[in-house]
Amino acid sequence: MHEERRFPPPEALAAAANVTEEAYARAEADREGFWAEQAERLDWGQKWDRVLDWDNPPFAKWFTGGTINAAVNCVDRHVTAGRGEKVAIHWVGEPEDDTRDITYAQLQDEVNRAANALTELGVAKGDRVAIYLPMIPEAVVTMLACARLGAPHTVVFGGFSADALASRIVDCGARVVVTADGGYRRGAPSALKPAVDEAVAKADGLVEHVVVVQRTGQEVAFDETRDLWWHELMGRQSPQHDAELHDAEHPLYVMYTSGTTGKPKGILHTTGGYLVGTAYSHWAVFDLKADTDVYWCTADIGWVTGHSYLVYGPLANGATQVLYEGTPDSPHKGRWWEIIEKYGVTIFYTAPTAIRTFMKWGNDIPAKFDLSSIRVLGSVGEPINPEAYVWYRSTIGGDRAPVVDTWWQTETGQIMITPMPGVTHAKPGSAMRPLPGIVADVVNDEGESVPDGSGGYLIIREPWPAMLRTVWGDDERYKDTYWSRWPGVYFAGDGAKKDEDGDIWVLGRVDDVMNVSGHRLSTTEIESALVSHPKVAEAAVVGATDETTGQAVCAFVILRESAGDGGDEIVAELRNHVAKEIGAIAKPRQVMIVPELPKTRSGKIMRRLLRDVAENREIGDVTTLADSSVMSLIQTGLSSGSED
Ligand code: WTA
Repeated sequence: MHEERRFPPPEALAAAANVTEEAYARAEADREGFWAEQAERLDWGQKWDRVLDWDNPPFAKWFTGGTINAAVNCVDRHVTAGRGEKVAIHWVGEPEDDTRDITYAQLQDEVNRAANALTELGVAKGDRVAIYLPMIPEAVVTMLACARLGAPHTVVFGGFSADALASRIVDCGARVVVTADGGYRRGAPSALKPAVDEAVAKADGLVEHVVVVQRTGQEVAFDETRDLWWHELMGRQSPQHDAELHDAEHPLYVMYTSGTTGKPKGILHTTGGYLVGTAYSHWAVFDLKADTDVYWCTADIGWVTGHSYLVYGPLANGATQVLYEGTPDSPHKGRWWEIIEKYGVTIFYTAPTAIRTFMKWGNDIPAKFDLSSIRVLGSVGEPINPEAYVWYRSTIGGDRAPVVDTWWQTETGQIMITPMPGVTHAKPGSAMRPLPGIVADVVNDEGESVPDGSGGYLIIREPWPAMLRTVWGDDERYKDTYWSRWPGVYFAGDGAKKDEDGDIWVLGRVDDVMNVSGHRLSTTEIESALVSHPKVAEAAVVGATDETTGQAVCAFVILRESAGDGGDEIVAELRNHVAKEIGAIAKPRQVMIVPELPKTRSGKIMRRLLRDVAENREIGDVTTLADSSVMSLIQTGLSSGSED
């Protein structure tokens, strides 16, 4: 859909906006000075000597010499400032009427107990803690307790399998895992503990303790020598805890994300710069008025959006927010709108895939609820198509609330390119322009800036406070993956274009990374999972365009001769195998059993042609194929009905 309309900022919002045009010029004139100014919104122990140390690129240090505690900034300082009775979290469980309001004072109490509890288990500064929890307050509490101690956390999304959890535990060397018996999803308890038991068994005796939150009350295996109930452990702790100040560059967390190889990368974020970047961007991009706004980010805590814009950014800013445990359709398809009405949500941040799903469900569902409290809408995770943007703005935002289409990544830690609600004349589908203090560009193969009206690769030219510092345990991979294509330039893996006005349109990944419902998945990782199945000889995976999920996983598989035709159940077997190896989110939409794969003479799989097949298009140029008859072989094979 072509959409030529521009949406100027609402007058009243613009008049009182946190950020105005002036911020861009100020940041451009003195970038480091600008970030230093933003750092003043936090409480520091020792003040920094240097804003940015870029002496040894691409290894940046921000606010060097400074000391800070992220948990103190997210919790204690609000209590000290007399806002202890303010609600930090309106928690909404999936079962109806299962809610809890948690004030900043209560949050402080719990974070302190959890910090003491982890200390009792031997967790000290620098130790890693793995977190595998549903969307319950204990997830936030555990993250903040880790931050308080300076024990980097690694939160693993509950949708990942035991294998994926095990590899993350091993890679970062976590000796303690915090989990729950289960959580509620789609109206039923969904177990988590069995996956932890399996993962811990795979992690070669590394894990000493598993702390288990009792959420659903479902039956779980319990190893008395290793497992502890959260409520018992927490119950015996003091709510007092003296927080140590950590170096600004002390590791805060490791978040695993898919790359172009089979092995996920542990993206390392550190404390001071990350908190400055997330606190500033959350305040700026959502125009947060902490005293009156009710903010809701629907992202799972297992993803970076949950870290930056559900935990660290909003809490550092003293916001009041909603945290919802379950799925949008439980017990009915209006659940999210009901929550917005009940709590008077004013700022709402979600993903295009959810927006497209609601569009499909129809306007009459949100129409039953009062959404008039909403004043800013956000989108993240994938390009938002103009049709979904306009629907979101009009149906959810009442044609009044601006939509901020925020582009960023696990690696960037903070929003990088986005409209500003009080400044930008937004164009549906465009992320518009870099945040003040961020220097982004679109370049060609030679790394030269492309003129307005052209496309190329999206890059970042200057370091930014919340940037990743390295890949956990692998500095070389950090350099190779992000900084090697053009010297001194961060390459994000996305393609983009600059329109005639110089505004940026993010077009999606240009590497072998797929984006399914806003979740990053690696084609190579899924291919390795398929090939690990005894019946599979070779596999190629592509992301095909999908109306709802943005992209969908389509797998082309060659079976081993010994497997014959694989049997009737082969497609289901392979889909389940991927779910077991990686997680349900990686389950292919389609598995196509084929006799051959299209390859170049050098043996590289031509995914472009497979995408043509998966998207039911006419097959493109096949002249570089080693064997040009392969594509007709594949298509003949498919007509015999091996689609799922
Ligand atoms: C994509 C999520 C277009 C992009 C915060 C990026 C987007 C990847 C947008 C990062 C957007 C994210 N418009 N594409 N507004 N936001 N992306 O690490 O391809 O899970 O590289 O971080 O999502 O995904 P990640």
